[in-house]
Amino acid sequence: MTRTIASLIDGQPTATTPAERLTITNPADLAEVVAEAHLGDANTFVEAATAARAAQRAWACVPAPVRGRAIQQFGRLVEDNLEALARLITREIGKPIRESRGEVREVIDTCTFFASEGRRLYGQTVPSELPDKQLFTFRVPVGVAAIITAGNFPVAVPSWYIVPALLCGNTVVWKPAEYAPATAEAFAQLLLHAGLPVGVFQMVLTSGEQTFAGLTRCVEQGLVDKVGFTGSTEVGRQIGELCGRHLQSPCLELGGKNPLVVMPDADLDLAVQGALFSGFGTAGQRCTSLGAVIVHDDVHEDFLTRFDASVRGAAIGDPTQDVLYGPMINQRFAERFEQWLTLIRPHHTACGSTGVGRISSGNPRDGFVGDPSAGLFFHPTIVDGVTADDDLYRTETFGPIVGVARFAGFAEAIGLANGHGYGLSASIYTRDPLNVFRFREQIGAGMVSVNNSTSGAEAHLPFGGNGKSGNGSRQSGIWVLDQFTRWQAMNWDYSGRLQKAQMDVSDVEADPEFRLPD
Ligand code: UN1
Repeated sequence: MTRTIASLIDGQPTATTPAERLTITNPADLAEVVAEAHLGDANTFVEAATAARAAQRAWACVPAPVRGRAIQQFGRLVEDNLEALARLITREIGKPIRESRGEVREVIDTCTFFASEGRRLYGQTVPSELPDKQLFTFRVPVGVAAIITAGNFPVAVPSWYIVPALLCGNTVVWKPAEYAPATAEAFAQLLLHAGLPVGVFQMVLTSGEQTFAGLTRCVEQGLVDKVGFTGSTEVGRQIGELCGRHLQSPCLELGGKNPLVVMPDADLDLAVQGALFSGFGTAGQRCTSLGAVIVHDDVHEDFLTRFDASVRGAAIGDPTQDVLYGPMINQRFAERFEQWLTLIRPHHTACGSTGVGRISSGNPRDGFVGDPSAGLFFHPTIVDGVTADDDLYRTETFGPIVGVARFAGFAEAIGLANGHGYGLSASIYTRDPLNVFRFREQIGAGMVSVNNSTSGAEAHLPFGGNGKSGNGSRQSGIWVLDQFTRWQAMNWDYSGRLQKAQMDVSDVEADPEFRLPD
């Protein structure tokens, strides 16, 4: 029987007639129905935010170490359900099982980090310029957080927001990708069984359009105080505008066109391994996926030959097996990817597989694992000859396609690595520390890899980008605390009189004429 999944308000599935129904099929085996989603509308979103608002004050009053305990219990539940959750991710969005397990691990790591943050959440004591007076800082929860996430990382990325938001004393309305509802429901149930009081966590299944309409009403009515959004630059801009009008600063994690620079002194086989994983792992459907390899003229031919051979040899297919990548997440992702393939122009040369586009019996891929006609499988495509004038250079192409551009001097490499205006993740392959530090200094990306892939950030280092990749907000580790708390400054004067800052401050006299004897 097909699982029906609806929004969860105060932990209960909403019973109202759905505004829309979505049938979710396994993208690796389209004949298998995974779930049916009953989508709500803008009212559902407002209802969830109202319930979250009602629960927020009481949750903020729960001592932070106790909130941390709920996070710890959530992490344990996730760990005890790791395999079931990973298998569900693989069935619903086609992520290779090994990567799905890694993704669940990222949730556990996030919980491990924040469970004990409940016992820190430090403020400071600060000396005053006046006697008998003390200054302090406190972290105060922001209020109700609306978290809107994509389906390519259906549990890890949501946990980056939801776990610290809850730990800091906020309540949460989560709008997961409506096209991955079974995974979202599983994540929500694990969280709801971790000991959270009713109302603290709400899950809303709505289309993008209805979400934006609901969010707009919530921000206007003061029901939402913070928005966290992972998705496209275009939608990020709309959310940024909405929040800006209400003097809120959202946490935005947007697209990327992540470069990997190969210097002439690079270990080429290592660079090929990095390009293979960051370009084609997750079928290129990560915000941190490789956009273009930027390779020095001297090693261009050698690199391309090796890269082509390694992409041709990579196992692609059934995501329950040991493959580099499986299908596209769903039909919509597949169709968009087909559009991006039209950016390949006559001056480009495509390689990396036995074809370009959808893999089928008429357009086969050598060594394909499983039956390509069962799902939404695409050839990996390397496009050589990319230049700064190409649409392919500027466009985020969410799928298994990697451009190759060449450069002669370091400044040219930096120009190509920054020129598209994205700034999420960037990598350099070199043996020379001078190149490493120059690159770090001059690259606009929020995250830099040295002799490593552009994807695969660890869960406790600041994650986020600049330019078209985000508004400078950072997730993960201690840095995300600034997204979900506000600093409150307190001063306490116990002198018993009004002491005026700057005016009643005692001075110390120096002797400005003093000189050491010759
Ligand atoms: C994303 O695609 O939105 O660093 C996030 C990485 C992963 C997260 C990607 N840990 O590639």
